[in-house]
Amino acid sequence: MSERHWPWLGAGLGCLTGLFDYSLFSLLDVRMMAGDREVTPFIALFYGVSFAIGGWLVGRVAAQRVYIRRQLTAVAEARARAAQSEKLATVGRLAAGVAHEVRNPLAVIKSSAALLAESVPPDDAGLATAATFIQEEVDRLDAFISALLDYSRPRPAELQPARAGRVLERFTTLARGDAEIRGVALSLADESDGAEGPLDADQLSQALFALVVNAGQAAGAGGQVRVRALPGPSFEVADDGPGVAEADAPRIFEPFFTTKARGTGLGLAMAARIAEAHGGRLELRPGAGLGPGGRGACFHLALGSTP
Ligand SMILES: Nc1ncnc2c1ncn2[C@@H]1O[C@H](COP(=O)(O)OP(=O)(O)OP(=O)(O)O)[C@@H](O)[C@H]1O
Ligand SMILES: [Mg+2]
Repeated sequence: MSERHWPWLGAGLGCLTGLFDYSLFSLLDVRMMAGDREVTPFIALFYGVSFAIGGWLVGRVAAQRVYIRRQLTAVAEARARAAQSEKLATVGRLAAGVAHEVRNPLAVIKSSAALLAESVPPDDAGLATAATFIQEEVDRLDAFISALLDYSRPRPAELQPARAGRVLERFTTLARGDAEIRGVALSLADESDGAEGPLDADQLSQALFALVVNAGQAAGAGGQVRVRALPGPSFEVADDGPGVAEADAPRIFEPFFTTKARGTGLGLAMAARIAEAHGGRLELRPGAGLGPGGRGACFHLALGSTP
């Protein structure tokens, strides 16, 4: 029952209490007299009306308490969201500045390392390895800067009517032959019954890609990863890896939260942002992994207000 009806519930209970009192008076044969006139029914009616009004007021106060508490929670959430977007805006400005300053020197370091690699004497394996390390690490830093810039300057979603299956097709093209997910048993299923939605297939396939990369890294070689498009439409990525540790679960969607030695911690934050750009949300579904007894991780990406 919604709290809108609580005052009437209170009033109803008040009436019932009045009725109960009257029945009790009759049962015990209690009579109230004013002079020589019996006034028991009037007194009972008076009690009933007073109790009903009292009940109505109590119900109303209780309902308003709930309403006020809900408003306070909404205000706290809005404040937290505003603080988060302020944080992101600051990170964005910082990222853009750092990227600008760091990208050119990185390119110089990389080409110098390539030159060095070419001029290494054939018998100096140590130096050749060092030159390769430098190039690999520069590539990693460059990828990190790109991820940071993508995150801090998001492209607005271009929502167009399209089938959920289209997102899976896009994802397949994106993921084909990608080293990150090679070696895992990846299954794709379109169970969306042809559901359509206003969506940005490009961005959603990137979000699925980030989820599948995580799933592949967690499940490891030979692990199972399943991607499903569901009616709604919505999407689900599940794996049979070890799952998300309970202590980490509240933080995994925070930008820069990572438990990996070489992670940036931006994959889930980006995917969650893409879900939000569709008016939906990304959530972890505990106990719905593909391992025995639901072990593993299961992420559900809903568009709009799909359940
Ligand atoms: N499928 C999964 N199974 C177990 N843990 C997961 C899974 N997906 C995400 N996580 C946890 O959530 C954390 C954050 O994931 P996220 O994708 O945002 O960053 P990352 O994978 O660490 O780095 P990157 O930016 O390279 O993606 C991971 O470090 C991991 O601890
Ligand atoms: Mg990731």
